[in-house]
Amino acid sequence: MQKFIVKPGGEIRGTIRVPGDKSISHRVVMLGALAKGITQISGCLEAEDTLSTMAAFKAMGVPIEKNSQGQIIIHGVGLHGLQPPTEPLYIGNSGTTMRLMAGLMAGQKFSVEMGGDESLLQRPMTRVTKPLTTMGAKILVADNGTPPLIILGKQNLQGIDYDMPIASAQVKSCILLAGMYADGKTCVIEPSPTRDHTERLLLGFGYLVNREENKICLKGGGQLQGQSIDVPADISSAAFFIVAACITKNSEILLEHVGINPTRTGVIDILQRMGANIELYNQREINGEPIADIRVRSSNLHGINISKEQVPLAIDEFPILFIAAACAEGETVLTGAEELRVKESDRIQVMADGLQKLGIDAVPQADGIIIQGGKIRSGVINSHGDHRIAMSFAIAALRASGTINIEDCANVATSFPNFVSLAQHVGIKIIKTTVVLTK
Ligand code: S3P
Repeated sequence: MQKFIVKPGGEIRGTIRVPGDKSISHRVVMLGALAKGITQISGCLEAEDTLSTMAAFKAMGVPIEKNSQGQIIIHGVGLHGLQPPTEPLYIGNSGTTMRLMAGLMAGQKFSVEMGGDESLLQRPMTRVTKPLTTMGAKILVADNGTPPLIILGKQNLQGIDYDMPIASAQVKSCILLAGMYADGKTCVIEPSPTRDHTERLLLGFGYLVNREENKICLKGGGQLQGQSIDVPADISSAAFFIVAACITKNSEILLEHVGINPTRTGVIDILQRMGANIELYNQREINGEPIADIRVRSSNLHGINISKEQVPLAIDEFPILFIAAACAEGETVLTGAEELRVKESDRIQVMADGLQKLGIDAVPQADGIIIQGGKIRSGVINSHGDHRIAMSFAIAALRASGTINIEDCANVATSFPNFVSLAQHVGIKIIKTTVVLTK
């Protein structure tokens, strides 16, 4: 059992680069594995989730190695070059890997079983298996629509027009990736914009994707060509330090080379509306993704209303935004965010429980939360094995009246393996302890 012990106080200062974007890293590995030729990745996230994606492709015969400059080198086998794995694929904690790979596996000539850890085995998969089945895939799931998934090979997929009922980039990506193996045209209509890394990267790997308003289409039977890709730092990881600097007196931090794709910058827009002092510098574009350096200074935040359309653009940042709301003056109300209940944990309930334990008035709603800014007390928090909950409460300690202990933190390694050392580097008084449980 891993624990964080975080003492209050201090100032946040320094210049840091957080690890590579998780969503982009997963996708580059997938497309690189299925491309013709070599894909060379700089800045790829090497955390448990993306290592699960790499391990899955290695198990299907794709050579993946690291060179002396720390780049990940993938020897792509082409869209039809994967080999059947000899065992079920273990996907760990990674919902993105499982859902995107479900689309890819549906198009293979062999059958595959995919399982994962306790949290992944509880996550809803019918959102992808239903549309894939409409395309002609044959997939077995557990009775309640959760993993393990058994995807039967040798099916003929047909393109579909899929009107997506939830705004999910994982579902959109799954269907588009399956569409590469389908006859004809596959289109996904999104109810509101979701992260578009799959579309941008497909284009970068030479696969034609067409977007007209909220409808994204591609045709089956194309090819991917290996690329050299520079993965930007993950704005979802940067968000912890953005909020840390906002809520702490006399603070100023510079976050370098952060991805600022407009489908991901909801956290910046929301914090700026709360009164945050955030500036973007040195804006540039690399491999079709916008990037900037982000400077954040201390500010006095105030509560706001956050509505449904903003939710997908900040979907992973709500745990840390709830900490910002707890440190803000007045009330913050979030609605239209029921998806938070089916992430790595039920992020509405787990955050509300944790905030209440620390003396904050946080009332969970079916589709959101109402938080009154207030004084944070010391206490013991259970992160329920959710990486983003653990990191969020570590940041909350900056404003607490005493030490915050956070339990069940090992899964921080799924997205941000060096969180503790970077946090210490910028001035957070955090230590990590590992409790060995003996019988
Ligand atoms: C992701 C999409 C989001 C996000 C997840 C990563 C992706 O999930 O929460 O962490 O890489 O496509 P949904 O598409 O289910 O909202």
